[in-house]
Amino acid sequence: MTDPINVADYERLAEERCEPGYWGYVAGGAGDEVTLRENVEAFARVQLRPRMLVDVSEATARTTVVGTEVAMPLLVAPTSLQRVAHPDGEPALARAAQAVGTVYCLSSLASMRPRELAAAVPGVLRWFQLYWSRDRGFTRELVAEAADAGFTALVLTVDLPTAGPRERDRRSGFRLPEGLPMPNLPRSLGSSAYFHDTLGEIVDTSLTWRDLEWLRSECSLPLVVKGVLTAEDAMLAAEHGAAGIVVSNHGGRQLDGVPATLAALPEVVEAAGGRVEIYLDGGVRRGTDAVKALALGACAVLVGRPALWGLACGGEAGARHVLELLRDEILLALVLLGARTPADVGSAHVRLAQ
Ligand SMILES: Cc1cc2nc3c(=O)[nH]c(=O)nc-3n(C[C@H](O)[C@H](O)[C@H](O)COP(=O)(O)O)c2cc1C
Repeated sequence: MTDPINVADYERLAEERCEPGYWGYVAGGAGDEVTLRENVEAFARVQLRPRMLVDVSEATARTTVVGTEVAMPLLVAPTSLQRVAHPDGEPALARAAQAVGTVYCLSSLASMRPRELAAAVPGVLRWFQLYWSRDRGFTRELVAEAADAGFTALVLTVDLPTAGPRERDRRSGFRLPEGLPMPNLPRSLGSSAYFHDTLGEIVDTSLTWRDLEWLRSECSLPLVVKGVLTAEDAMLAAEHGAAGIVVSNHGGRQLDGVPATLAALPEVVEAAGGRVEIYLDGGVRRGTDAVKALALGACAVLVGRPALWGLACGGEAGARHVLELLRDEILLALVLLGARTPADVGSAHVRLAQ
C-alpha cells in the first residue's frame, strides 16, 4: 500500500501488522456485531447542510472540554492493552495526543499507574478512566493519585458491570500476554483465560447512581460518565453531579442491539438540557463524522480504534499521524460547512438522508 492518507488506510495497514488474536480483540464487538457496524453506518445516514459566504478566514478547530482548551473537538478514548499494539504503549499514544494538543484518556486497563504516565509524559492533557472495583480502599487511592498526578477529569465507565460477549476472542482464544502489568486493578486478571470474564469479577456490580456521591466526595476532579445511551440516564447523571457524559456503547463491545451512538445522541442532549457537556464515541473515522456529532449536540468526540491502528502501525508517529489527519479533516469540514468554530456548528447544519 502507498502511504496512508486516511483512517481507513490505517485500519487496513494495522490488520496486516497485528497478530490475528489481538486484531480480533481490537476490531471485534459483542454478539453479532450489529451495533459495531451501526456505529459507523449511522454517520452515512446524516447529511451536512453547508452555508456559503460565511467568513471562515479565521476558522479554528480549537474548543474546550470540561474547561480544558484543546486543539480540536476530538480526544483519545481510553483503551486497554496499548502495549500489545506497540511496545511503547501508553506513553507513545499520550505523546501523540500531546503533539496535536488534545486529551489522552488513560484506561484502568493500562500497564501503568496514573502517576507513572504523568511522569513519562508530563505535558499531556490527561483524563483517567475508572473501572470501579469492589475494593473501595483501592479505588479511593487510585482516584486520589490521578488527581495528584495532574489528571483533569475522572471518566467513570458505567457500561461494563460485566464483560460483553466477544465471540471473536472466544474463537481465537485471545489471552493476556504473560507478564503484562495491570497496576490499576486490585488483583491480577490472570493470563490463562479469556480475561474479560475475570474483569467482570473485579468490577463492582452493586453500584448505583447514588454511589457517584461517594466518588465525588473522594475525588475533586470533574466527573465524566461514559456509556450513557438514554434520556433517563442522562438526567440521572446530571442530577448526580456529572460534569460530562460520553454517549457510548463501548465501541459496540458490550450489549449488542443498542443503537448507534449517533442515533442515541439527540435524546441524551435534550435530556441533559445544557447542564452537562455531552461527548460521543463510536464509529468516528472522519472529520465529517465529528462535525455531524457536533451538529447533533456533542461538544466533542473520542476515538478508540483509530488511535490504536495508528499506534500499531508506527508507535507514537503513527498515532500522531492519525490524530493529525483527523484534526485537518475537522478543520476542513468546518471551513466547507461555513462554521468558524466547533461551537458554531448547530442542528441546521445537518439533515437525515432520504
Ligand atoms: C481494544 C479496545 C479496548 C477498549 N478498552 C476500554 C477500556 O479499557 N475502558 C473503557 O472505558 N473503554 C474501552 N474501550 C471503549 C473505548 O473507550 C470507546 O468507547 C470505543 O472504542 C469507541 O469506539 P471506536 O473504537 O469505534 O472509536 C475499548 C475499546 C477498544 C476497541
